Amino acid sequence: MPEPMEVQKGLQDVVALQSRICFIDGLQGRLIYDGYDIRDLAANSTFEEVAYLLWYGTLPTPARLDDLCRQLVALRSLPPELVALIDAMPLDSSPMDVLRTAVSALALFEPGETKPGPTSIGGAQRLTAALPTIIAQFHRRRAKLPPLRPRPELSHAAYLLYAILDRDPSPLDARAMDVAFILHADHELNASTFAARVTASTLSDLYSAITSAIGTLKGPLHGGANERVMELLDEMASVDRVESVVQAKLAAHERIMGFGHRVYKVEDPRATILREWSRRVGEERKNLTYYDLLRKLEEVVHREKGLYPNVDLYSGSVYSLIGIPHDLFTPLFAASRIAGWTAHVLEEYTDLRLIRPTAAYVGPTDLKYSPIAGRA
Ligand code: SDX
Repeated sequence: MPEPMEVQKGLQDVVALQSRICFIDGLQGRLIYDGYDIRDLAANSTFEEVAYLLWYGTLPTPARLDDLCRQLVALRSLPPELVALIDAMPLDSSPMDVLRTAVSALALFEPGETKPGPTSIGGAQRLTAALPTIIAQFHRRRAKLPPLRPRPELSHAAYLLYAILDRDPSPLDARAMDVAFILHADHELNASTFAARVTASTLSDLYSAITSAIGTLKGPLHGGANERVMELLDEMASVDRVESVVQAKLAAHERIMGFGHRVYKVEDPRATILREWSRRVGEERKNLTYYDLLRKLEEVVHREKGLYPNVDLYSGSVYSLIGIPHDLFTPLFAASRIAGWTAHVLEEYTDLRLIRPTAAYVGPTDLKYSPIAGRA
């Protein structure tokens, strides 16, 4: 019988690899991308600049950033075969299923971009540029919106808002989206990033790794939580119902979405920033209903469970106020996290080690085979 081994369920606190990309201090509630505090980046940077930082490990010069922005704009359009495939997908498809399928299919039409190795930076930029167009191509068809127009003057975040809403975002909304994209761009070895690294560690290609990541992000314990937060807010409807609704859920041993985190033992710094954007975007619209509900929800959940908000608690209220359909929240998460996913895949290729943990076997080891004829 094999020696009993200490199992770290969920690989909790297991250090699986070294990385220069992202540091999370769960006790202090700090998030660092390549040395820069997320609060500085959210206050001063853009998604494109952060994507450059994650890919190259340094902030870009003005010329380098201009080049990257131009490249990303040029890479937004999709091959006609992929547009036809997206247009053939059932209108009631889950947008995350559409995204996962389209990314996988894109590899078939652009094999050159998918080769594994340090040169995958081209594929990283291609996928980063294409995800908003894939999301919008599907959504505009189901929403009966006119075809997408090239909008080279719009940033990644503003283009996504135009592509989904079919109108130019206000400066405040565009900045709110850009900050949300900065906040979601990377988060160390979260489940979807780890899935991408496991795939890359076999020397599989970039598009396969990103397909793994999208499938993983779809799960409500990871990417889908902010959609469920909005369902909870709709269920509570008013501040004086928050207490009773939360008590009932906790009594039924249900998870309150948007709270708790595997790594943060204090408030997720992204929640702190998104709370303020939820207030600003709500104030702009003279509608603080979501904000007030969320503040009360925080108070009750912290009192009852000692839990803190994570990135998903306030993000949905910002997106919903801007007008984004709830089932596009997780695709939006992917349209930001693609920068971190691809940075980690590139890092895996440059410091490759097949990721292959072991399991503690708990079954028998010496059963005798009985021919089926003799089995009852
Ligand atoms: C993201 O990993 C990342 O970095 C992810 C992410 C990223 O940027 O990539 O940060 C994005 O995924 C944010 C998390 C979004 N998910 C949710 O909001 C779903 C609700 N949260 C929980 O399911 C939970 O907090 C997790 C999954 C996020 C973390 O869970 P853990 O670390 O596995 O903790 P656990 O399940 O062992 O819970 C410990 C205790 C349990 O109580 P007991 O059973 O021991 O009495 O805390 C309780 C849990 O029941 N608990 C909750 C809770 N989260 C934990 N109770 C009620 N509501 C919750 N949300």
